[in-house]
Amino acid sequence: MGRVLILIPILAAVPVLADQPVAYSHKQHLAFGLQCLDCHSSADTSAAAGIPSVRKCMLCHAKIGTANPEVNKVIAYANSQREIPWQRVYGFPRESLVRFQHAPHARAKIGCATCHGDMTQATTAQRLVKHTMGSCLSCHRQNQASEDCAACHY
Ligand code: HEC
Ligand code: HEC
Ligand code: HEC
Ligand code: HEC
Ligand code: HEC
Repeated sequence: MGRVLILIPILAAVPVLADQPVAYSHKQHLAFGLQCLDCHSSADTSAAAGIPSVRKCMLCHAKIGTANPEVNKVIAYANSQREIPWQRVYGFPRESLVRFQHAPHARAKIGCATCHGDMTQATTAQRLVKHTMGSCLSCHRQNQASEDCAACHY
């Protein structure tokens, strides 16, 4: 441990808007103390961070905010046993055959904000950080992480 991670300027702020089915707000939910891992619960242990199931929302929204029309959309999905069809924000084209993994980055103590920007100010997620092979490799090089093609590609 004690290794200092060198942050790189090419992780530039380039918002890309996604049109989401529910006006969920990261800012609002994080302001009352929820943590990233409360909802993206496998970001420290698995390849995928995970998107929370509507059942997780209902732990609170079965009782809270039931007069709010946006919360009512959440309740309607839950009642019809359908997941909320969130549009994906981050990701790579299938043909790039990229295999990203969250867990090794969590172990190396790289904060979510390094790769996703300041989500405490976000409503639904926007692509605040652009990831390319160049941005992956430049951090890997600076931190002696793998530069093997097979580490990142199938
Ligand atoms: C730990 C409890 C908790 C969880 C879990 C939770 N929420 Fe909320 N949510 C709240 C509270 C508290 C409010 C504020 C209610 C109010 O002001 O009436 C809120 C507000 C909202 C609103 C209303 C926003 C507005 O003001 O228009 C939406 C939409 C919403 N939540 C969606 C979700 C979704 C989707 C999930 C699951 C991914 C979720 N919430 C999970 C507690 C929670
Ligand atoms: C080193 C950069 C990096 C770090 C650190 C990082 N992410 Fe990601 N995250 C990505 C990339 C790249 C993707 C797209 C991966 C893909 O589609 O294969 C992604 C995807 C996601 C997704 C979409 C769903 C999924 O499972 O892929 C969520 C949610 C997410 N990250 C949350 C988080 C949270 C929460 C943290 C902190 C605990 C975090 N990320 C840390 C780079 C990162
Ligand atoms: C109450 C649950 C909740 C909490 C807490 C939460 N998120 Fe999310 N997050 C969601 C939901 C629901 C989505 C899907 C809608 C969207 O894209 O905004 C999402 C989407 C994302 C995405 C985009 C995933 C994709 O499609 O590629 C990222 C990145 C992300 N969250 C990061 C974070 C980070 C970082 C934190 C902590 C600072 C955090 N989230 C806290 C519920 C949550
Ligand atoms: C901010 C720095 C940083 C960025 C950006 C970053 N990584 Fe990493 N990555 C690391 C570090 C540090 C490790 C852990 C190395 C270790 O465990 O010794 C790592 C580990 C990995 C591993 C595991 C390698 C192995 O040998 O098991 C993969 C796969 C990976 N990164 C893919 C990516 C991809 C794909 C991207 C771009 C989307 C990316 N990384 C962006 C710092 C970064
Ligand atoms: C640290 C992770 C990482 C390593 C190591 C890596 N790549 Fe990549 N590579 C990526 C990411 C991420 C993309 C996707 C960029 C995008 O879609 O914008 C990519 C894209 C590509 C593409 C372009 C695919 C397309 O979309 O047209 C090729 C070709 C490629 N890589 C080959 C290689 C080769 C050959 C090596 C070994 C010398 C290598 N990569 C090592 C992360 C990595």
